Amino acid sequence: MIGDDRGSLIALEANRLIPFDIQRVYYIYSTKINVERGFHAHRELQQIAIAVNGACTMLLDDGSEKKEIKLNSCAQALYIGPGIWRVMREFTADCVLLVMASHYYDEKDYIRDYNEFLNWVKDKKNEEVDFDRGW
Ligand code: TYD
Repeated sequence: MIGDDRGSLIALEANRLIPFDIQRVYYIYSTKINVERGFHAHRELQQIAIAVNGACTMLLDDGSEKKEIKLNSCAQALYIGPGIWRVMREFTADCVLLVMASHYYDEKDYIRDYNEFLNWVKDKKNEEVDFDRGW
């Protein structure tokens, strides 16, 4: 953060603070009360999420561990890599959730079924084991 007596400024640069080439930016806002969004994982996509206004809660699940992260500061950026199931909830009425993404929108990159996600994670782990053994 670059702050002086006029206020604060945050600069996000691709391949520097943001660890990928930003190909897409979108934002979620005017979310209705008690709405839960997400319920998917991505095969390849990397994302950074920032609540630039208001707050929401992000639930992250890698298939074996679940974490709950409160996004309530525009100075806080959350990195979400591939293979993470996410649910967004507890949006405040004024929440603007800004997301920077490493790829264009591509429905084929989504896993929208939780059991399919768990199988995908299991397959990935098996691939890694095979690789380690040099098969
Ligand atoms: P979706 O990713 O399912 O939203 P969320 O995970 O926040 O619940 O997207 C909602 C709709 O918007 C869906 O029809 C796909 C479309 N969409 C785009 O066209 N471009 C985008 O960049 C995103 C993120 C979604």
